[in-house]
Amino acid sequence: MAFPPSRPVVEHHREPFGIGEARPRISWTISAPPWWRQAGYELEIVRGSEIRTHVVRSAEQILLPWPEEPLASRERATIRVRVEGADGSRSEWSPPTEVEAGLLDPADWSARPVGGAWPEDPDSDDRRPALVRRAFDVSGEIVSARVYASAHGLYELEINGARVGDDALSPGWTVYPKRLRYYTYDVTALLRGGENVIGGWLGDGWYRGRLGWRGGFRNLFGPDLSLIAQLEIHYADGRTQTVATDADWLAATGPIVRTGNYDGEDYDARDERAGWSSAGYDPVGWTPVAVRQRDPATLVAPTGPPVRCTEEITPVAVLATPSGKRVLDFGQNLVGRLRIRVRGERGAKVVIRTAEVLQDGELYQRPLRDARSTDSYVLAGRPEGEEWEPRFTFHGFRYAEIEGPDDLDAIARVYHSDLERTGWFSCSDPLLERLHENVVWSMRGNFVDIPTDCPQRDERVGWTGDLQVFAPTAAFLHDVTGMLSSWLRDVAAEQLPDGTVPWYVPVIPAHEMWTPIRPGAAWGDVATLTPWALYERTGDTGLLEAQYESARAWVDLVDRLAGDDHLWNTGFQLGDWLDPSAPPDDPAAGMTDKYLVATAYFAASSRAVARMAAVLGREEGVDRYGKLADAVAEAFCAAYVLPGGRMVSDSQTAYSLAIGFDLLPSAQARATAGARLAELVAAAGNRIATGFVGTPLVTDALSSTGELTTAYDLLLERECPSWLYPVTQGATTIWERWDSLLPDGRVNPGSMTSFNHYALGAVADWLHRVVAGLTPAAPGYREVRFAPRPGGGLTRAEARHRSPYGMVGISWELVDGELTVVTELPTGTTGVLDLDGEPSQPLGPGTHRHRVAVGLPAVP
Ligand code: BGC
Repeated sequence: MAFPPSRPVVEHHREPFGIGEARPRISWTISAPPWWRQAGYELEIVRGSEIRTHVVRSAEQILLPWPEEPLASRERATIRVRVEGADGSRSEWSPPTEVEAGLLDPADWSARPVGGAWPEDPDSDDRRPALVRRAFDVSGEIVSARVYASAHGLYELEINGARVGDDALSPGWTVYPKRLRYYTYDVTALLRGGENVIGGWLGDGWYRGRLGWRGGFRNLFGPDLSLIAQLEIHYADGRTQTVATDADWLAATGPIVRTGNYDGEDYDARDERAGWSSAGYDPVGWTPVAVRQRDPATLVAPTGPPVRCTEEITPVAVLATPSGKRVLDFGQNLVGRLRIRVRGERGAKVVIRTAEVLQDGELYQRPLRDARSTDSYVLAGRPEGEEWEPRFTFHGFRYAEIEGPDDLDAIARVYHSDLERTGWFSCSDPLLERLHENVVWSMRGNFVDIPTDCPQRDERVGWTGDLQVFAPTAAFLHDVTGMLSSWLRDVAAEQLPDGTVPWYVPVIPAHEMWTPIRPGAAWGDVATLTPWALYERTGDTGLLEAQYESARAWVDLVDRLAGDDHLWNTGFQLGDWLDPSAPPDDPAAGMTDKYLVATAYFAASSRAVARMAAVLGREEGVDRYGKLADAVAEAFCAAYVLPGGRMVSDSQTAYSLAIGFDLLPSAQARATAGARLAELVAAAGNRIATGFVGTPLVTDALSSTGELTTAYDLLLERECPSWLYPVTQGATTIWERWDSLLPDGRVNPGSMTSFNHYALGAVADWLHRVVAGLTPAAPGYREVRFAPRPGGGLTRAEARHRSPYGMVGISWELVDGELTVVTELPTGTTGVLDLDGEPSQPLGPGTHRHRVAVGLPAVP
């Protein structure tokens, strides 16, 4: 076989550089002819001058174990793979992947946190972040040079006047006291003989900037801003020179006057220290740094990509508002910041205020609550003009109001975790396509190092419930496994000793509704359902192993709370949060009994843990949680399903939970529930009547009980509340409320009115799985179920997903009463086509075209 496998993938790294896994797992994809099957593989691992090959008889190609001694800190290896077919054929070698370990042992770290030593008022926003620098000499031929860097606060590094790396908002947000991420940079090309300088910018970020709502808090993780950086230069003669942050560094204030995630950044270019990170600069006025404490054991390598600028957007219009302001419209609600080019007098000031919406033609910042969302720049007055972008903030916005010199232009730069896009959907209905596009944009805007609820107001925290419902969609659209496995570790790290999962991770203080932390259904279930969802999509058993204790502890807690009757019917719950029938100021007061929701989730989580235990071979867990799941389902039905099949809460969410979590005892009971659900949807005029809990389940609950037509009616409804109502209002992201913008064109007066919340976009997973018809039938899409369910007048739909095995895809088209379905499977996978509830003969890799006459009955 001539075709080589792909470059090996190392764990879930886009760039396996500075990784923390000493025994990283390896995967590859293969594009072989359809009949070809892998029977074995050979891994070649080159470490220094040693070349070893490992021949393994196995048909597996995903997340295979590291076959030799663990990597040492800083060690590089080059990996190639070739595969052998069942027919004895052998491929060429794959292209190589270079992998390099970071600092794996706390003892590798000599860098200490350093920052400005001057007194600061910890309660003030006006704290100028420090610049820190160190000059050093280089002599000899350099083989390689690396910087390992992190910070208390945010950092950007420079060496000899050049920016190091292109990551932003690093080191991101983890549970800092326990896990502080560091990044590794190759800086070989930036060094030269003689004097060199390394310097760091610092910013407040999540570490000490204002964080939290109702005024929030400052200095949550410490009042200091400190850089942790360790430059290691390896010379041809075998010497290593280390320049690490220590008492020999100098600090000075820089041009950033103040900076914060919510409030924005103020910058005075007149205070720039020209050449401060270059050789020959005289650091007059700089003072010795203060050296702070950090246990190096808390420094962890990244498992996913950093935040980066991934797109630049030019304004689609420059608006003059009724009050005479200049407002740029970027045509898209996005997350990032502006880059301006301006020419004007020294001391002239540019002020940029951002918002997601206009009202009465003016920039409308009220939904941002206490986030000032304002950047400002004071010009140095350079005749050739000057360019600026804030460094340590991000905003959620479509519009930017700009005051300042006339000679100014601006672009928006989109920032988020630089995840690889892996999923696409299209269809014949432009409104549905826009809905899907809005989901993608809300995902981009809310995957900014951690998965957040919203990116614009004084909140932006890792609400566990939001991610729990959105994770399957997220895992289709982008490769989130590396990023979310880090966040799930933080979930486990923040879990209370009794198993309580916090409402949001990392935890920050909040008012009495959230303090002390109480266990809540749907939010806490992120500990069980999200690892399972990621496993289904990626086949990563290591992730299940890492999260099993956390998942089990959550279910054990709920089990204790529920007691012998297996009903979780005590305590505070959010229920079906944001059910549209709930009063605007009490989103938890929906139609569905909160304890019905809690008990349904208890059953689903018990089942998920039983399944995890089965995959991990933990027999006692299979038995215990399997029986528990059965018992809870039984208790749920006894308590919440009336003899005729109606439920105690006769609400769409109640039936969706019973069907979606498979809690009903028989096919007949499911069908009855589905029929009642369909009746309720019709009675509501196809308007949405579900909140965070019911919305991700309701279309599946309908389509899986033979009520496909109603599912489409619900999906395609345009009146408020519905998925398409915001689209008809020009939405470019998913809103927090069905009516964030009211039908009268005014912004919902509620204090919680975001225009960028992904939770209600979880319906995209149904678009992928049911409308287009692409579902993993075995973990990692090793087996695929192609089960399109055309309806709603659509004449075409398509979904494509770059799975761990390669691209899987389906497209269908209805022409003149004939349905044509084209499926695509990569090497290593199989699939079935299911058009009518009856799976076809297995399909092998390759492209298959199927034609059938339509008039199909709606089937589960
Ligand atoms: C957030 C949500 C979150 C909720 C919890 C809100 O303020 O924006 O998305 O899940 O609180 O009740």
